[in-house]
Amino acid sequence: MFHLLIIEELIAKAGRRQPQIKFFWLPQSIAFVYYQLSWLHFVLNPSWSYRLNADFEDHAEHEYMTMVAENPDWDSEPFESSFADDFGHFDSLADAFRQIGHDERVHKLESEALMTKPRFR
Ligand SMILES: [Fe+2]
Repeated sequence: MFHLLIIEELIAKAGRRQPQIKFFWLPQSIAFVYYQLSWLHFVLNPSWSYRLNADFEDHAEHEYMTMVAENPDWDSEPFESSFADDFGHFDSLADAFRQIGHDERVHKLESEALMTKPRFR
């Protein structure tokens, strides 16, 4: 949740208008379909749902790390966020995104661990 809040805050600070279709309705539609697919996988075989999530988290981790690599100026840009007290204080925007990427790795590992557990605990 903090990842989304921080990114929304960064977008708002940038002050750039974004087309609603591309940056709201399309992502919301994809998220809706993804949720339904994940739910159906969970009903049929929970390990499929955890695998799907692990792959999604892996993709997210790599995308965040690619963004950091493609934006070397982020290493000298301060991370200032109203969510810093809850999410963490970092020396730079790049470090904040590295933490977000690391969080995605942890999410992936959690999903992979759950794949081996029984359906109900
Ligand atoms: Fe995640």
